[in-house]
Amino acid sequence: MVRIQSLLVLALIATALGYKRYEGYKVLQVKPENEDQVHALVKMNQVLGFEVDFWRDARAVGRNCDFMIPPEKESLVMDFLAYFGITPKVVVNDVSVMIDRSMKEQQEKPKIDWKAVKADPNQFPLDQYHTHDDINAWLQSVAATYSSFVTISSLGKTLQGRDMLFLKIGTPKPNKNALWIDAGIHAREWVADATALYTISQLVNGYSTKFKTLLDAIDIIIAPSVNPDGYEYSRLSDRNWRKTRSGPRQGCYGVDPNRNWSFHWGESGVSTSPCSDIYDGPSPFTEKNCQNMKAYLDANNNTIKGMLTLHSYGEDWIYPWGYKTHTYPPDVNDLRALGLQAAAAIQAVHGTKYVVANSADSLYPAAGASDDYSKSIGIKWVYTVELRPGDGDTANDHQYGFNLPAKFIIPTAEETFPGLMVVANRIMTGP
Ligand code: ARG
Ligand code: ZN
Repeated sequence: MVRIQSLLVLALIATALGYKRYEGYKVLQVKPENEDQVHALVKMNQVLGFEVDFWRDARAVGRNCDFMIPPEKESLVMDFLAYFGITPKVVVNDVSVMIDRSMKEQQEKPKIDWKAVKADPNQFPLDQYHTHDDINAWLQSVAATYSSFVTISSLGKTLQGRDMLFLKIGTPKPNKNALWIDAGIHAREWVADATALYTISQLVNGYSTKFKTLLDAIDIIIAPSVNPDGYEYSRLSDRNWRKTRSGPRQGCYGVDPNRNWSFHWGESGVSTSPCSDIYDGPSPFTEKNCQNMKAYLDANNNTIKGMLTLHSYGEDWIYPWGYKTHTYPPDVNDLRALGLQAAAAIQAVHGTKYVVANSADSLYPAAGASDDYSKSIGIKWVYTVELRPGDGDTANDHQYGFNLPAKFIIPTAEETFPGLMVVANRIMTGP
């Protein structure tokens, strides 16, 4: 295999192939000290008249918030921040350098030995980011190898015809309760998909030992990549792609698949501009990948007792309702208590501290998300999980954003796993 050593050569190739460049784009980090500063950040896009890309959405007093700015807007943004007394820290000086590194990592990853993987799915490198086709091929090999307790099905095809495969892991028995876990609804949040694959591997390998009781009692359904059109676009064309690939509408592609669900659709935290990263779509459920997920959740809402949706990044374990601040489901105390247990289980692994909170209060209201919809159809334990962006060293954390180097996949996934299992165990023990 050709190894491309020079980042410059790689950059030239990327440009020639039409890969979106981010030369001179910076990622700034700010920590608002008071409500006025929070408010200024929330209003920044509206005031400046263009869309600053928020990488870490938290916009509460004392919480870091990261966003990417193009070079030509830098002085405008700096002036805006200065006006409100906000001093940003530059966490990424040139996003294109970071992206080139992650492309190089992709180029250099070892080729998958499919013969070996088919014989033993553990031969699949979980410490790498994979193509959609490779993810699906691996899911097939897991299902084939562990066919006595794993079934594979498709939620349906995406707009571009990709298969949204998922596994159901558990001893076959009728009417079992289940935990649903999805990842990758936002295309660029690659470590989420990778964490879902790791989770699958843990469960199938521990089926006859440490997870025997659990998987005899409940099923765990894992859909590891629920926006594959966007995912492939983020691999091949624009590393920062978040949305689906429908359209064009007004010359722009994609809908934010986490704003396209019907519950309180469009009420908050969305844009009605098709060019926005948080475009909610022309109406609810226009996006094929959302329709497919919805159909499955609707059809199984009597047995699915928990719904976990993996995102990156933030280190947040957040619960509904997300569409409006200070607005909670009646069992919010249950959600909070279990969330705290999950966060404690995560922290016990590598010390990563998650914030457990209501999503609208701690981030900002955003309507039309999959978590609120799932809660609205009666699923009890619903959480959005924002994984970590960094190496776990808090002094240097948040330095990679969505471009988390592959070597951090395992630490991220292995700390997340016990958090997910807290919810699984809760479903096992009953209502
Ligand atoms: N970062 C996620 C997003 O923007 C958070 C979603 C939280 N849930 C909600 N209903 N607002 O999609
Ligand atoms: Zn996300």
